[in-house]
Amino acid sequence: MKIALIGGGGREHALAYKICESDLCEKLYCLPGNAGTSKIAENVEIAVDDIERIVKFCKDNTVDLVVVGPEDPLAKGIVDMLEKEGIKAFGPKKDAAKIEASKSFAKYIFKKYGIPTAEYETFDNYDDAVRYVKQKGAPIVIKADGLAAGKGVTVAEKEEEAINALKTIFLDKKFGNAGSSVVIEEKLTGEEASFLVFSDGDSILPMIAAQDHKPVFDGDKGPNTGGMGVYAKAPIVDKQLEKEIIEKFMKRAIDGLKAEGIEYKGVLYAGLMIDENKQPKILEFNCRFGDPETQAILPLMDSDIVEIFLSCIDNTLASKSINWKDKYAVSVVAASGGYPGSYEKGKVIEGLDEVEKLDDIFVFHAGTKICDGKVVTNGGRVLNVVGLDKDFKKAQEKAYKAIKMIHFDDMHFRNDIGNKAYKYL
Ligand code: AMP
Ligand code: GLY
Repeated sequence: MKIALIGGGGREHALAYKICESDLCEKLYCLPGNAGTSKIAENVEIAVDDIERIVKFCKDNTVDLVVVGPEDPLAKGIVDMLEKEGIKAFGPKKDAAKIEASKSFAKYIFKKYGIPTAEYETFDNYDDAVRYVKQKGAPIVIKADGLAAGKGVTVAEKEEEAINALKTIFLDKKFGNAGSSVVIEEKLTGEEASFLVFSDGDSILPMIAAQDHKPVFDGDKGPNTGGMGVYAKAPIVDKQLEKEIIEKFMKRAIDGLKAEGIEYKGVLYAGLMIDENKQPKILEFNCRFGDPETQAILPLMDSDIVEIFLSCIDNTLASKSINWKDKYAVSVVAASGGYPGSYEKGKVIEGLDEVEKLDDIFVFHAGTKICDGKVVTNGGRVLNVVGLDKDFKKAQEKAYKAIKMIHFDDMHFRNDIGNKAYKYL
């Protein structure tokens, strides 16, 4: 079948690699893709938010299946539009994508269906929100309701920080409509973990747990990024906890949405906070694969992902299972100098050919493109270097050995991706 993959980050390069492994895939288009996907698929220069052009391209090229990476087109209803044209699409429809696109809707679902989460209130005006912050005191968490490219959350240690965040949202309108209301919630403590499942609206099929590293510097210091590295399977999620997450979070969400008249098909991704007593609470649900979680999870998957996508769409997931390699994956992000602040693009990336020859190493491109025959940087997060091994430490060593063979001007990466796992191994 002809497949189109929407997106151009590290997540999409990992998805492209996995889709290409399937016997069902005869042709893969990546819209827009990156330098990495251009080697295994055909890149098509259409932006992820240009939904009309995406739909037209898929119709004109008789695409059989569309796989959507990022949340924006999902929240705008790309799956609904493709289905209207008779094209199969993997991902939730607009009403179901609201679980990520509206934090107040997500909180309503958590509360109504007994999904453990932080105490919260929602507000649609500055004055009431400030009054609540003053009443509760710091630390406190302020969240713009809508999609804000991962920048809408402030974990405020001081009251003043919380009030500044409310000013930015309500008075400066930094996030536009996405900030027309806010969720204010208690600060949770512990370790974060990501748990992703496939869903066909009735049944779920779990993936392995992963742990992302959002702050830019070692020791979780510095500002948050899109994610500087990840590992899977995250040993903090043991068998017992996995069972609890599936029952109390994933199934309750899918069943709860169903009770609201919403069919959830696609990947449901839980961002969890796990406290020192191993009690999990939900921070958020995302309506898609995680980035960078996907880059560590998919190299460990030993099953045909296209078959799973089709089972989600056709409501036959109950008959499926996933085989996982008996290995760990540690993935380290190489970022541009200055990221997550401003950075330059167009730096030549060296060492890729040598690294790609290594065993049990994957390099998934994110912000890269080809310029005059050379691979150059084209974004903040540039590459994901993934090491695989049965032994966690060796997987980590492989990833770091490989990333040190890659070079571009001002490249930086965290040196401690994976260290948190040792206390659970
Ligand atoms: P969210 O988009 O809701 O996942 O928030 C982004 C990040 O903010 C999370 O990955 C956490 O690191 C942090 N965060 C969100 N909510 C809370 C909370 N209630 N307590 C502590 N940290 C939080
Ligand atoms: N790993 C963070 C995200 O995908 O939102």
